[in-house]
Amino acid sequence: MQAELQQELSRRLFAHLDAGTTDVWPDVVRQQVSAYTCPERAGRERRELFQRRPLFVGLSGLVPNPGDWITSDETGIPVLIVRGRDGRLRAFANVCRHRGAKLADGRGCGAASFACPYHGWTYDLEGRLIGLPDERNFPGVERKDHRLAAVPVAEKHGMIFVQATPGESFDVDDLLEGMSAEFTPYRLGGWTPYSHQRFEFAMNWKIAVDTFLEPYHFPFLHKNTVGPIFIGNLCLYDGFGPHLREVLPRHGLRDMRDKPPEDWDLVDNSALVYVFFPNTAFIVQKDHMEVWRCFPRSGGGPGESVVMFDFYVPEPVRNEKARIHWDKNVDLAVRTVIEEDFPTGETIQAGFAAGVNEHVTIGRNEPAVAHFETTVNRYAAA
Ligand code: FES
Repeated sequence: MQAELQQELSRRLFAHLDAGTTDVWPDVVRQQVSAYTCPERAGRERRELFQRRPLFVGLSGLVPNPGDWITSDETGIPVLIVRGRDGRLRAFANVCRHRGAKLADGRGCGAASFACPYHGWTYDLEGRLIGLPDERNFPGVERKDHRLAAVPVAEKHGMIFVQATPGESFDVDDLLEGMSAEFTPYRLGGWTPYSHQRFEFAMNWKIAVDTFLEPYHFPFLHKNTVGPIFIGNLCLYDGFGPHLREVLPRHGLRDMRDKPPEDWDLVDNSALVYVFFPNTAFIVQKDHMEVWRCFPRSGGGPGESVVMFDFYVPEPVRNEKARIHWDKNVDLAVRTVIEEDFPTGETIQAGFAAGVNEHVTIGRNEPAVAHFETTVNRYAAA
């Protein structure tokens, strides 16, 4: 993070510490329970938020070299992303043009082409059909008319975004509405994927996102994990169009103010949570990055979600000491989020069925939650 911005944010935090306050939303927000339980609303969200706008996929280190590829299915539409020989990323519907089988699954490296596992139709890294077994029995089937269907993908600042359906090309800076400049100092293009985990939960995907958006709950739910590390109920919030940045200060911030401003290191003394709307919490921790991507479960109801947790480290792991260090960090994240936050989220979803609450109440001290939920409402209504 840029030094000037660190100092500006740090001063805001110090003022709150002195006053015993936090950033706030203008009013209490009441979000209707139906936003988490209505199948029709869930269908609109899937279509408008997950299938028709670009979503964060991960860092460039997932596909660093020509021929490296990764697939994504969680929007309900299968997508294949591949780095070409020219170094450019391209993305396609992961659907064979013969009879529609999926071409690839997961993540791989060094591919020269993609052969469909069903009958062997083969495509190059730019999506051209280059192999069609027994072609004489496909009279009138032109290879040029059967290339893979391209979908928009963009890569910048070491970050990859893709849209599941065909549409206009986009630029990451435009997409992030002014927030992307903050990512330049992190040099994300050089970071290494360390671990990837996938989880399914019995709760709406928005409840999963909400959990990253306020430290009001830290002293209570996380008293045995990260609660003692962070200052509870104090956060900074800034919106960037539908996206947002939230700063969650660590207790070390109190000592930092004794140093001259040029020595302030906010990254070391906080967790910086960036939400790439609609579904990604990108968390800059002291020495690593966590990415939590939350989706409605494909084929599931409004109360079912899938969460992908990716952990990135600044350089490839070369020894056991480093592995032990990163494993400990992954474990703390899992114990906090997977074993404390999300089971609580499942109780929230189950509680909706009781019919006691018509809405959930979002306090002024939960500004990032208010921003996120009201933004989703706006997009879902549109
Ligand atoms: S479905 Fe792909 S080759 Fe037949």
